Amino acid sequence: MTAELLTGIGELTTQSAEFSHDDDRLTDAALVIENGRIAWIGPAAEAPPSDSRVDVGGRAVLPGWVDSHTHLVFAGDRAAEFEARMAGQRYEAGGILATMTATRAASEADLVANARRLRREAEAQGTTFLETKTGYGLDLLGELRSARAAAEVADVVSFLGAHVVPPGIDRRDYLDLVTGPMLAAVAPHVDFIDAFCETGAFDVDECREVLLAGRAAGLGLRLHGNQLGFSGGVRLAVELGCASVDHCNHLDDTDIDALAGSNTVATLLPACDLSTREPFPPARRLLDAGAHIALASNCNPGTSYTTSMPFCVATAVLQMGLTVREAVWAATRGAARALGREHGPDAVGSLRVGGRADLQVLDAPAVAHLAYRPGVPLCMATWTEGIRAARPAPPTAR
Ligand code: NIG
Repeated sequence: MTAELLTGIGELTTQSAEFSHDDDRLTDAALVIENGRIAWIGPAAEAPPSDSRVDVGGRAVLPGWVDSHTHLVFAGDRAAEFEARMAGQRYEAGGILATMTATRAASEADLVANARRLRREAEAQGTTFLETKTGYGLDLLGELRSARAAAEVADVVSFLGAHVVPPGIDRRDYLDLVTGPMLAAVAPHVDFIDAFCETGAFDVDECREVLLAGRAAGLGLRLHGNQLGFSGGVRLAVELGCASVDHCNHLDDTDIDALAGSNTVATLLPACDLSTREPFPPARRLLDAGAHIALASNCNPGTSYTTSMPFCVATAVLQMGLTVREAVWAATRGAARALGREHGPDAVGSLRVGGRADLQVLDAPAVAHLAYRPGVPLCMATWTEGIRAARPAPPTAR
């Protein structure tokens, strides 16, 4: 296999140090990619010989985004619901059923094609690793089709049969279905089990039952919690040792202390908060208390119809009080942690010798430009497991 040298890196963000949101910046750097892995990192002047060379002309290089929370398997859109919300209507989970109806009516091939379209859109903005979920099928066949479609498109798949109770089935019967035959059917295709812990969806005891069934089936645990109110989801996630609890808009001091004393990542979804007009989560307080956070797009047709991780990073900096480096960390290594992929041979979200070559080049000299120039498409090229995709124009190769 050939060795490719990336040189002329004005600012290289590796995120490879332990527990640091703001170290790991090298200037005048280079790295070598070989067999999909990073073979060398160091000063450009000391770069080893290589088979090919790309000079990025002083631009910034950082890990590709890890989008740890998306719902890409769906059909239809809910633009009318969005417009009504912008006119003052409150978000409630009821719109999920409109997407369920459209999703059940779509073919599995169409579900895969739509999810692929969204993945490509995400990749064009620097995403190199992505989780997605089921949750719009909400019957055995619908969830199975969704799980298979998700597994075709995403790197990590979560089973969200416990999104809401669909019409036409008793609540208890639906829980038995989710924790029984539905879980057994989807388990070969998924990595995590998830549940929506909220008024209008599932309460704490129901979510505990669902997550424990998933754990017994060998799945990792994650939870949607405290999005629309103080649902108790955060404390349940900490109690069960979930990898992640997602949304976290409404947190009291006990929730923050619980997260800070745990390994559960608080995954924050700023694009969703703008679209639902929920208050942003207390990101600054979480970090200051010592909690782990991640940023994700939550791409879905109801509450967050965007694949743009740069938009989430910029919003976290401009509106949620994070520094640029904290936001970049949360959208890469923090998100990897939320997916259980922070360490080990298949780690993502950081650049280290021997690790996966998942990285992006910005058309900017420094990552600060992600928030300094919000809304500007800065991703110029990505390498995913060492394979390059350039857009719109590649850096000059010499
Ligand atoms: O993460 N909160 C629950 N589920 C999705 C939204 C689903 C929808 O409204 O379609 C979310 O925001």
